[in-house]
Amino acid sequence: MKATARAHTNIALIKYWGKRDEQLFLPMNNSISITLDRFYTTTSVSFREDLSADVFVLDGKEMGGHEREKISGFLNLVRRTANHQGYAVVDSLNEVPTAAGFASSASGFAALAAASTRALNFTISNEGLSILARQGSGSASRSIYGGYAEWHKGTCQDGSDSFATQILPENAWDLSVLSVMVEARQKKVLSREGMRRTVETSPFYAGWLDSLEIDLSAARDAIHKQDFEQLGTVLERNALKMHATTFGANPPFLYWTGATIDVMQVVQELRENGVLAYFTIDAGPNVKVICQPADEQVVKDRLLELECVQDIFLCHPGPGIHYLTT
Ligand code: DP6
Repeated sequence: MKATARAHTNIALIKYWGKRDEQLFLPMNNSISITLDRFYTTTSVSFREDLSADVFVLDGKEMGGHEREKISGFLNLVRRTANHQGYAVVDSLNEVPTAAGFASSASGFAALAAASTRALNFTISNEGLSILARQGSGSASRSIYGGYAEWHKGTCQDGSDSFATQILPENAWDLSVLSVMVEARQKKVLSREGMRRTVETSPFYAGWLDSLEIDLSAARDAIHKQDFEQLGTVLERNALKMHATTFGANPPFLYWTGATIDVMQVVQELRENGVLAYFTIDAGPNVKVICQPADEQVVKDRLLELECVQDIFLCHPGPGIHYLTT
């Protein structure tokens, strides 16, 4: 009754921003991502007869309170799905620098969905795993797959058709993702609260939704054709639009700092000088810069000239969930 699984983080090229059902984590729109090689979570789950509650150990430390409740709530879902009663020990190791603006929730819930179902010997498809992981954190639905993935928002009320599928595997198209760390502090408005406030109050949210189909089909098409300029153009535009919705929220909020804008400007300047590089930003001040592998050193060197840049983590497309023998 024990299994270990590893899942990697992903970065959205076309963002998930807003839920139509908060309980089931059903998104307002499809999103497209790249799974990254460098950052991942490894989770062991062991269901045991002798436990009277779930135990959650994160990076060697036993967690209580809200952290444990989140994991236990997710295990309830797994227990219902697999028709099992009994508690588990969940032991997770995060190889994710949360300080660099990478959320560990995507890799965390994808690894937990995989390890817990495997520990129960429950047969489940990748789509089924994606549906499960989604209910821990929306972006986790995409971390089931390696390479390029799309999370389909679905139309069913019960969420049974809201899962991700793979567009291209990780070895099909190599790109470089430089995670540029400008700020190590915790973000002020968490993505969950940020997207809720935006959906409820921002008059710009309708514009976000209206233009999404165009962005999605341009990104999908660019990935299939492996057309980097087309992909870069649409991913940067999409990120800026997502952030524009927060300016219109009530109360308004802004994830950027001056350093975020400095990095954005250097990326645009690189392009003016013929180096194809594009940026995307999630719910925080750090920037992910995407370029072709042949340009990664030039881009990195230029970004390191900025005083505000504290560190740069270089990533490439990474694998989907896999199981480890312990
Ligand atoms: C800006 O998946 O962290 O990174 O579903 O509430 O857990 P919850 O949110 P989460 O949101 C990610 C938002 C984003 C864009 C993205 O990854 O698509």
